[in-house]
Amino acid sequence: MMQVDGQARVDDLRNTIGTGHPPQLAVIVPSFNERDNIELLYEKTAIALGETAWEMIVVDDNSPDGTADVVNEMARVYANVRCIRRFGRRGLSSACVEGMAATAAPFVAVIDADLQHDEAILPQMLDKALAGADLVVGTRFAGEGSAGEGLSAARLSGSQMATRMAAMIAGQPISDPMSGFFLVRRDRFEAVAPKLASDGFKILIDLIVTSARGGKPLTIAEVPYVFRPRHAGESKMNPLIVIQYLGLWASKLSGGVLPPSFLLFGLVGVTGVVVHMATLGVFTSGLGANFVVSQIAATLVAMTWNFFLNNNLTYADRRLRGRKLVFGLIGFYAICALGGIANISVASGIYELRHQTFVAGLAGAVMSSVFNYAVTRAFTWK
Ligand code: GDD
Ligand code: MN
Repeated sequence: MMQVDGQARVDDLRNTIGTGHPPQLAVIVPSFNERDNIELLYEKTAIALGETAWEMIVVDDNSPDGTADVVNEMARVYANVRCIRRFGRRGLSSACVEGMAATAAPFVAVIDADLQHDEAILPQMLDKALAGADLVVGTRFAGEGSAGEGLSAARLSGSQMATRMAAMIAGQPISDPMSGFFLVRRDRFEAVAPKLASDGFKILIDLIVTSARGGKPLTIAEVPYVFRPRHAGESKMNPLIVIQYLGLWASKLSGGVLPPSFLLFGLVGVTGVVVHMATLGVFTSGLGANFVVSQIAATLVAMTWNFFLNNNLTYADRRLRGRKLVFGLIGFYAICALGGIANISVASGIYELRHQTFVAGLAGAVMSSVFNYAVTRAFTWK
């Protein structure tokens, strides 16, 4: 060890035995606009965990309500609290990943800030992990667990559907694969962390499937709990998150061969074809324009449609704004034009060989979709 001035002070800092460092458990709390929940969550968790050495890491996406300020105020009082504040980024899954990656604790738990998850089961979850489980999931759908008053009828049926879909890809029995409440060994999380999808809400199912695909399935234990209504503030669940989940699900179903963003890009492309045909109809029949003019107009409208849909959906986590949006759109037109050339040359090449209109047309369309996806991913939404 290097000797420096004030070595005694450094030695003091190194002598952490008995001070609860490093903590045994890190509790990661993703937050967006949760200022009126965080302190209560901290107090309840502190009571639940008693003598366990633990820390709370709040990962806040620079919430406009000032959640991070509240957490930093708490950090002045409690030594085991800190805030990771992210700027220009949004996303529950990536917040969890970054929080879990920021601790030296051997066990990490993820819990929502809004008190819907019952922090009182954390000690039981930790016990099961200490007894050998890699992953312990708080479940609403087994034993004494229930979704209680926490879900509306519509949310409950959506959640049941998503749960069944998740079961198809999980590859092992798990009663609440959509749970946002779990505890995992940090080394098992770190082994797959670089491969986890950063968008959407579905970190847990991703963790399970990615570990299994890597040849090391997690041993899973469950602890039931009753899901409570949100304490203060509002849910951030929205249709975009549902679509992102569908993308992740289809990607896992493909054995991980097709990335979620490619599937969403393709889906957007399909809607673009519909928009193209509708615009063509309006120009030719509605406005009586000639075919070439109508086709050019329809192409421009469809490209613009695709650009904005991809920007808000496929690449919601890296959405372009302001000047970058304008340059992105111009670049997108240019890339699609090249994609169109690739489409026509592949299609006509195949047509000359085989004289099958359908096969040639499809090959051209697939060619330009892959081209557009790969190139816009590299240049537009990098
Ligand atoms: N940092 C960050 N960034 N946190 C976020 C974001 C984000 O973009 N979006 C949501 N959060 C945080 C919220 O502040 C909250 O602490 C937690 O993630 C869950 O968000 P809610 O908005 O309360 O989601 P929910 O109650 O609709 O969904 C929860 O329950 C579902 C089960 O029905 C989540 O736990 C889901 O994962 C779970 O499937
Ligand atoms: Mn909630």
